[in-house]
Amino acid sequence: MSGRSALVLVGMSAREVDAHDRLLAAVAPYGGSVAFLQMGDPALHRELTRLTDAGAERITLVGASLGTLAPATSWLRRIASHWWRERPEHDRPVVEVATAMMRNDLDLDLVLDVTRPIAGTEAPLSSAAWEAVPGHRHQVFVCRGPRCTALGSDRTAEALSQELRRRGRGDDDVLVTQTGCQFPCNHGPVVSVQPDDVWYAAVDPDVVPLLVDQHLVHDRPLDSHRLPRHRRVAPNQEKAHD
Ligand code: FES
Repeated sequence: MSGRSALVLVGMSAREVDAHDRLLAAVAPYGGSVAFLQMGDPALHRELTRLTDAGAERITLVGASLGTLAPATSWLRRIASHWWRERPEHDRPVVEVATAMMRNDLDLDLVLDVTRPIAGTEAPLSSAAWEAVPGHRHQVFVCRGPRCTALGSDRTAEALSQELRRRGRGDDDVLVTQTGCQFPCNHGPVVSVQPDDVWYAAVDPDVVPLLVDQHLVHDRPLDSHRLPRHRRVAPNQEKAHD
């Protein structure tokens, strides 16, 4: 990209945050930059602001997705559209979302013939469907801190989502959330299940089917990978025990 045009490769999920340097290398031949839809820096809206303030008149966004957990490209349009609507009218660049050929190794093969400019009429960030706290029975927190990620928790998160889907459990039953460090790093990949307050160690993808079957489907926590948990008593309860 040149002149007043800019290209941004946008990581769509936590998986691409880990691959930040590879994304940068992939977009470097095009003079582009990298941003993230979630969890990574810079966030997409900040990169759009930076480029626009630097004089970009046309910004092309390409979604990058290495795994199966990324949201649909429509979310790229939605977030970009929100930013675009908030920007003063006299100072808006053309923002377009392109589809690009991207091989697994992130060797980018850009074919930007399918580009659609943001019109500002895309769906907003809010929706009536996202008003209430969801009623899921379990929330599973998969640690994506540095140590657990190095031990493969990206695959654990992916395996969990796939196994839950295979067992017919949706977000209304079990909500999978990726987190920063949960602290018992020596036992990575760490997974905790709430509200049961059960913590698991070394949850590799091959442990996932058993964990899903026993704990999340049949409500019987798995003893084999369970970590001891000593929960502090609230100060007012301590006094009651004195
Ligand atoms: S990195 Fe996972 S518990 Fe610390």
